[in-house]
Amino acid sequence: TYGKTSSRGKLIVFEGCDRSGKSTQCAMLTERLRKDGHKVEQLKFPDRTTSIGHMINNYLANKEEQRDEVIHLLFSANRWESMQKMSNLLLGGTTLVVDRYAYSGIAYSAAKGMDLQWCRQPDVGLIKPDKVIFMTLSADRASERAAFGEERYEKKEFQAKVEKIFEQLFEKSYWQNVSGDGTVEEVHNDVYGVVSQIVSSDCGPLEKLWT
Ligand code: TMP
Ligand code: MG
Repeated sequence: TYGKTSSRGKLIVFEGCDRSGKSTQCAMLTERLRKDGHKVEQLKFPDRTTSIGHMINNYLANKEEQRDEVIHLLFSANRWESMQKMSNLLLGGTTLVVDRYAYSGIAYSAAKGMDLQWCRQPDVGLIKPDKVIFMTLSADRASERAAFGEERYEKKEFQAKVEKIFEQLFEKSYWQNVSGDGTVEEVHNDVYGVVSQIVSSDCGPLEKLWT
């Protein structure tokens, strides 16, 4: 092997409200880690390319209605349908940079008033991230960004509720807050500082979330 041996790839998850800069930062981090010589793939949830993803997309575009419980379970199922592929990649040494995960699933549903413990249950047992980067940006700042308001959930008051639930989900051992308030380069450097070490280290076997 080349350089440090780190047996498996790492699962790096970005979380945060809409328009906090996650997608931009996922792309920049993926590119940077590749330049460093790592095998890296970028994923996002919801994955709108599957049949479940199509249903989710129609719901978000306000073309279809679903009961709150149903859309919640579809978002979760949309993660479960990727687990085999993700574990294959991770065990094969590819690091995954993922735009949203189970925490979004809980935060957006619980912000509607659904029970938080009920919301957590369907995602119990997903692959546990090695690092969650939580991008903070006030609902006021986010709502000023381009294209805010196009999809369901992109309303300032609702996003503020989502942010509050995210704060309740914070897990000291593997979460890191990064301010989304700077220039893309500033934010990228903060993000890179958080993950560069973990990507080259040995993290032990894959674990299951919330078990
Ligand atoms: P996106 O803008 O990152 O594509 O996500 C679409 C919307 O779906 C966004 O408002 C967050 C929301 N969402 C959920 O409500 N539950 C979930 O499990 C996920 C992954 C996203
Ligand atoms: Mg969005």
